[in-house]
Amino acid sequence: MSKKFYIATDHAGYAVKEYVKECIKALGHEIIDLGPDSADRVDYPDFAKKCATQVASEQGSFGILICGTGIGISIAANKVAGIRAALCHDHYTAKLTRQHNDANILCFGERIVGRGVIEDMLEAFCTTEFEGGRHAGRVAKIEGCSMGADLS
Ligand code: RB5
Repeated sequence: MSKKFYIATDHAGYAVKEYVKECIKALGHEIIDLGPDSADRVDYPDFAKKCATQVASEQGSFGILICGTGIGISIAANKVAGIRAALCHDHYTAKLTRQHNDANILCFGERIVGRGVIEDMLEAFCTTEFEGGRHAGRVAKIEGCSMGADLS
């Protein structure tokens, strides 16, 4: 089934944005570019917020966020309620974060992973479904945390 993706980066992630868009399209999915439109310096929290708020407001959509390390942009995205942004480094982490965490945003670092690994991660993230079961309650607890619930 075709999925809808939103993508955003900072200036460091900009270098691979077009490549990622082509990979997602080749996998049969839709991808919407939320910027930036050049490699000029920008602040990653601004683009994390743009993508995360869009994904959070549209059930069933996904996001891809890229900065230099993937760290800053994933931290920022996870501030938005309903977002489970996973910083991944390889096929295994991209697959497991869908199976166990129901991640709705894939984050990675342009300075960390090469194009072959990026393609592999995208394929794993797109084709793997959430397992539910014992993982569903844990994911629900994450959502509880983001709403300030007492989970003790
Ligand atoms: C930009 O130089 C860099 O700090 C940013 O892309 C990211 O790696 C932050 O976590």
